[in-house]
Amino acid sequence: MDDGRWEAILGKVYGDEAPVRDAQVARYRRGLAAFAARYGPGEVAVFRAPGRVNLIGEHTDYHHGYVLPVALDRDVLLFARPRADALVRLANVEAEFPDRAFTIATEVPPRSVGDWANYVQGAAQLLERECGPGLRGMDALIDGAPPEGVPRGAGVSSSSALTVVAAVAIVALNRLALAGAALAECCSRAEWYVGTRGGVMDHFASLLSARGQALFLDCRPTADGYRYRPVPLPAGYAIMVVDSGVRHRNTGPHFNQRVAEGRIGIHLLQARFPGITHLRDVSAFPWEELEPLLPECLHAEDLPALGIDLERLLDGGVRPLGGEYRVRQRCRHVITENQRVQGAVVAMEAGDTITLGRLMDAAHASARDDYAISVPEIEVLVEAARAQPGTVGARLTGAGWGGCIVALVERDAAAVFAEAVAATYHRRTGRVARVFHCVPGPGAGLVCATRV
Ligand code: GLA
Repeated sequence: MDDGRWEAILGKVYGDEAPVRDAQVARYRRGLAAFAARYGPGEVAVFRAPGRVNLIGEHTDYHHGYVLPVALDRDVLLFARPRADALVRLANVEAEFPDRAFTIATEVPPRSVGDWANYVQGAAQLLERECGPGLRGMDALIDGAPPEGVPRGAGVSSSSALTVVAAVAIVALNRLALAGAALAECCSRAEWYVGTRGGVMDHFASLLSARGQALFLDCRPTADGYRYRPVPLPAGYAIMVVDSGVRHRNTGPHFNQRVAEGRIGIHLLQARFPGITHLRDVSAFPWEELEPLLPECLHAEDLPALGIDLERLLDGGVRPLGGEYRVRQRCRHVITENQRVQGAVVAMEAGDTITLGRLMDAAHASARDDYAISVPEIEVLVEAARAQPGTVGARLTGAGWGGCIVALVERDAAAVFAEAVAATYHRRTGRVARVFHCVPGPGAGLVCATRV
């Protein structure tokens, strides 16, 4: 395709003065060529969905709480051509992800845990249920490869980006009238297909973020949908994301254990506060009043006597780890985290970065001590980040058990921060950290439709 036309399309899609990075343009070109080589000449539409980094508000979304993510400028691309039938053929530019094919209309259980195609199939099956029957399939090529792709297993939602980009493509190719918050909510349910009962944060961040802004999202649905609004990032500061490189395989049961611990907490609080349904409902009560109602630790055998049927509490299909349920401290994290997110939004809107940084630090302590989702490597990174001049706050971000930290750093100090944190991390753990300056990008959508 001639360069002039290409630039014109990109200019339109991004819609503002920010330059599209050369590397991204090269990636679009490579993807189009690979698509043509694979599926032959003809029309192709290009879609993208970014990952996200959460500034504050961890593990609050599935308790109807508050979150404050930003979309990364790293994304998953999907090149697609609609088909006349319901077949979806999937290829991936990375050889480690084998070709897959499925028919949208047929509901099947997920493939083995971690299979990349589960995310696309989850999106397709849910849309067929909600907007079908009779959705048409597509020939598709995915590119989420580093360094432009969303880092995988790093707690920055690479898998949600894949779910979102698949859903956005199927919606567009079928001309479905589904967009915005309604589509984001569908994407979050689509991802339950893979067996993790996450919340809505990742999909809202990927779909509804705006360039240069964080997204303040109230994860409680109301009769009018969800409430969210953009919050401008503090001028003169950089959002630094540092990937520890630590990946825990199959964190699903651990995640589900946290979901279970919170739901047990709610069940017990309902005796005193009838009518509440989520931990969000008690966020306004002083912790001292709630604490005595929540046991420190329960075991599976204690649950029936308390009238708790875990299977029912988890809507079936979700398998926790079992063993100890540390109800009190898990609930304390969620309840206090909701208060911190609200404080962070007020601070950001007032340009009070000192308070914002303190809240990020406090959120980290709570995630580590009460929610127990940190690991030693993350602790080294947080400590190294805080030791740098110009850092106002640092915390683990995402689901936990490895992944990334996020730090708010004075812009002029960002380059030194990147070098020093990576060096300290290597010295203390022998591992290599990847540091990137996150420039919050726009939400998911169509990049262009063209011919190859
Ligand atoms: C995962 C989930 C999200 C959220 C975070 C923790 O990313 O998918 O819904 O719960 O963990 O904040």
